Amino acid sequence: MQIRVARLEDGPELARIDHAAWSWLSDVVPQPAEDAEFFGERCPPEEFRVAEAAGVLLGYVRQAPPTPLASNQHVRQIRGLAVSPDARGRGVGQALVEAACAAARAEGARRITLRVLAHNTPARRLYGRCGFQVDGVSPEEFRINGAYVDDVWMSRRLTTD
Ligand SMILES: CC(C)(COP(=O)(O)OP(=O)(O)OC[C@H]1O[C@@H](n2cnc3c(N)ncnc32)[C@H](O)[C@@H]1OP(=O)(O)O)[C@@H](O)C(=O)NCCC(=O)NCCS
Repeated sequence: MQIRVARLEDGPELARIDHAAWSWLSDVVPQPAEDAEFFGERCPPEEFRVAEAAGVLLGYVRQAPPTPLASNQHVRQIRGLAVSPDARGRGVGQALVEAACAAARAEGARRITLRVLAHNTPARRLYGRCGFQVDGVSPEEFRINGAYVDDVWMSRRLTTD
């Protein structure tokens, strides 16, 4: 498996992964179409790292500044992470999160943050293994299938100073 920066031509395959990986465990919007436009002007390939094995994409992570503000440029945020259901449990997710952290560090970021639904146990375990700590919780931030779900804010320091 290799991790590399995404290319524009990866879009259709990443849209299929997004469609297959979708569930209310991890998502707060309805399932995207299998042929949805994946990249956009505000969501360019350079912000994505993909995991690839034998020419097949297994998953992706996106990291980008949380806001366009100059005063916020020392922070990056994981703004998307998905692994194909049939490629899970083999360390692909962990490799993608580590790659996102390395990319953020290489861009000069001091911290990397993320938001995860409280009921998304697989993702929370993964982030914990990758050194993320819980910064806080927004109680009942979403209503999913008739139940209120907390939103958990996590972060990891990328520098030693
Ligand atoms: C969360 C998600 C990205 C994890 O991806 P993954 O590739 O399965 O992650 P990993 O393989 O690194 O870790 C998953 C488990 O496999 C285990 N594992 C990793 N490599 C392994 C190996 N070689 N052999 C056996 N088990 C292994 C890990 O220890 C981990 O165990 P856990 O279930 O006790 O935590 C994936 O489930 C997913 O796409 N979910 C839907 C989208 C989502 O939730 N995104 C995050 C939104 S905030």
